[in-house]
Amino acid sequence: MKKVAVIGFGFMGITHSINILKCKNLELTAIIEKDVDSVSEKLGQKIGNLATGEIDTEAFKKVPVYATLNSCLENEKLDAVHVCVHTDLHFPIVKEALNSGLHVLVEKPFCLDLKEGEELIKLAAEKSLILMVAHVVRFMSPYKKLVEMIDSNEYGNLRFLSLSRFSGVPDWGQWKEKQKNFGISGGALFDLVIHDIDFAAFALQEIPRKIESTVLPGKLSNNDYVNAIWQYPSRNLTVKIEGGNIFPTSYPFQAGYTAVFDNATVSFSTQTVEYIFIDDEKGRTEIDAGDLDEGYFDEIALFSESIENGTLPKKYSPDSALETISLCILHAKN
Ligand SMILES: NC(=O)c1ccc[n+]([C@@H]2O[C@H](COP(=O)([O-])OP(=O)(O)OC[C@H]3O[C@@H](n4cnc5c(N)ncnc54)[C@H](O)[C@@H]3O)[C@@H](O)[C@H]2O)c1
Repeated sequence: MKKVAVIGFGFMGITHSINILKCKNLELTAIIEKDVDSVSEKLGQKIGNLATGEIDTEAFKKVPVYATLNSCLENEKLDAVHVCVHTDLHFPIVKEALNSGLHVLVEKPFCLDLKEGEELIKLAAEKSLILMVAHVVRFMSPYKKLVEMIDSNEYGNLRFLSLSRFSGVPDWGQWKEKQKNFGISGGALFDLVIHDIDFAAFALQEIPRKIESTVLPGKLSNNDYVNAIWQYPSRNLTVKIEGGNIFPTSYPFQAGYTAVFDNATVSFSTQTVEYIFIDDEKGRTEIDAGDLDEGYFDEIALFSESIENGTLPKKYSPDSALETISLCILHAKN
């Protein structure tokens, strides 16, 4: 069993912790949260813009909580950490963890500065440590099924792919502080729409030839709404990506896709989360979309396997996550 700690016990830290407890190769050895007292309070609360699993409060009560990585390492032996703090802290905390000889799974976005990302990738390679960025949509069942359909040509070639993701402005955890520090989180572009930008690049395994993007400001940044068209002329393919959080907090989270192939249109929405719909000449059929939440478990399982094997599959490399940051930068207005 590898010993792991979660750094930052907010919406994502809780989600990672729930899934580490389910993973037979991992032991949740510690929680590192600067606001130590908040950990027990959060166990009974609903945090975040979507449900990502139930907390086993009894299992959590046995896990020690430390305010810093340093104080944790004075008392515990760790193999890895899951970095779930806000984006502006990813670089210093991932660097500290790698320098302490720990494998790292860090939440998306990797970091907003390409040079920082390059430095972390180099450091992990020098120390022969696994560094993985948690791009969960790559692991979510309805999105994995779409990748299979694209790769198999089951419905012919893909001609048009529309990806969307909307949410109210986040108000849990530290997000209200981020509103006072305009731009620091990267806004919806780097926090929310990045899921679809990353997924499109991952699914197509190719960078678009041309990107046209419109962005609008919101409460967090100048890039809180994005509407982008990507062109792949050699594949006769157009991709549309739209998303943002310029809505009041009560606006419900929703995401999905419509993929137009030569012989069928395939669609999925979190509003009808159980099914993927396939429309063709014969009419509409539905297939099981699988469990969206299992994506969080599967990304952690891959991280754990990669620690065991000493290598991360290339398509999940931190370089691919940094390429996604480069793509996001191409959509941004500063
Ligand atoms: N993959 C996804 O689906 C997804 C969803 C939401 C957020 N995220 C990403 O996860 C990250 C965190 O977002 P969140 O919504 O969980 O935030 P949050 O505000 O809910 O949680 C952040 C936590 O980190 C703690 N913290 C701050 N500084 C710390 C430090 N130095 N040491 C230890 N703990 C510290 C805070 O007290 C807080 O509890 C962001 O980078 C965000 O982009 C990913």
